[in-house]
Amino acid sequence: MNHSLSTQPSAYATGDSYFVQSYAKINLTLDVSGRRSDGYHDLLTIMQTINLSDILCLTARSDDQVRILCSRSELSTEENLAFRAAQSLRKRLGLTRGVEIELHKRVPMAAGLGGGSSNAAAVLVALRDWWKLPLSNAELVEIAATLGSDVPFFIDGGLALCEGRGELITRLPDHWPSAMRWVLLLKPSIGVSTATVFRNLSPADYSDGRPSHLLQKALLARQPFATTELYNSLERGVLEHYPEVARAQADLLAAGADYVRLSGSGPTLFTSFEQLTEAQKVYQRLQNQGYELYLTHAIHPQHHAITYF
Ligand code: C5P
Repeated sequence: MNHSLSTQPSAYATGDSYFVQSYAKINLTLDVSGRRSDGYHDLLTIMQTINLSDILCLTARSDDQVRILCSRSELSTEENLAFRAAQSLRKRLGLTRGVEIELHKRVPMAAGLGGGSSNAAAVLVALRDWWKLPLSNAELVEIAATLGSDVPFFIDGGLALCEGRGELITRLPDHWPSAMRWVLLLKPSIGVSTATVFRNLSPADYSDGRPSHLLQKALLARQPFATTELYNSLERGVLEHYPEVARAQADLLAAGADYVRLSGSGPTLFTSFEQLTEAQKVYQRLQNQGYELYLTHAIHPQHHAITYF
C-alpha cells in the first residue's frame, strides 16, 4: 500500500499550515426501517468515533483556488468530499480564500468506516476554526448534510444516535461500556459500495429500530448492555453477497471473538474486548492468517485540530 503523498504541494502554497486528524467510526447498531421516495433509506444508527484517523494538512494559497493532493492519487480529484466541503463552505459565506488540502489516508476506503465523510467534516470544522468564520456547529451540520448522509455525525463525532437518512444527530453521553474497551477491526481485502449494499437490501432486513432504541436507553441510563444485541440491517445481505466477508466473520469467531458485527455497509467487521490480553490473542491469531487488522478504542469527543503553526 502506498502511504506517501503522490504529488508535490503546489508552488502556490505558503508556509501557513493547519494540521487536522479525521477519525473513522463504527456503527454499534444500524436499523434500516424502509425505503424513502427520494431513493434513500430511513435509518436509526448509533455511531462512535474511534482512534483510527486520516491526516489532513491545510495550507493557505496566495490565489483563490482550492486544490487537493491525496496519498491515494485516485482521490486527488474535485469529486473528493474534502474538496467539495471546502468549496461548499466558501460558497455559503461568499469567500474567495484559497486553500491547499493534503490528505494522508490511513483509514481503509470503501470500508464502512466513514473515512471520506470524516475528511469532509474535518475540513469544515478546521476551516471554520482556522479562518475564524462565524458558523456554529449546527450550521456546519447543515452544510455537511448536503455532502453525504454520514458527514453531519463527524462534525462533533463521539457517540451519537443518527436518524433520518443519517443526518439528524442526537449526542449521547460520553460513556463507553467497559466491555467494549478495545475495539478490533478486521478489513476484508475487498471494497464495498454503499449504494450497492442498500440496493441489495431486502424488506425482510428492515427493522423497527428496537436494537438502536434499547442501546440508546442503556447508554443514557449508563447501564451495561449485551454486545450480542448489537445489530446491523445491512449485515445479512453483505454476508450473502460477499463470501470473503462471511469467511472473515467465521475466522474472527474461531479466533475467539464473542460476537462479530459489520460496520456500516461494510466490509469491515468489528468485535470488542474488555481486556487487552484477550484482544491481543485474537489479533495475533488473525494476523497469522494474513488479515488487515486495527486495534482501536473509542474517542470522546472528537478532537479535530492537532497542530497549528
Ligand atoms: O449519502 P451518501 O452519499 O453517503 O450515500 C451513498 C448511497 O448510499 C446513496 O446514494 C444511497 O444509495 C445509499 N443510502 C441510502 N440510505 C441512506 C444512506 C445512504 O439508501 N440513509
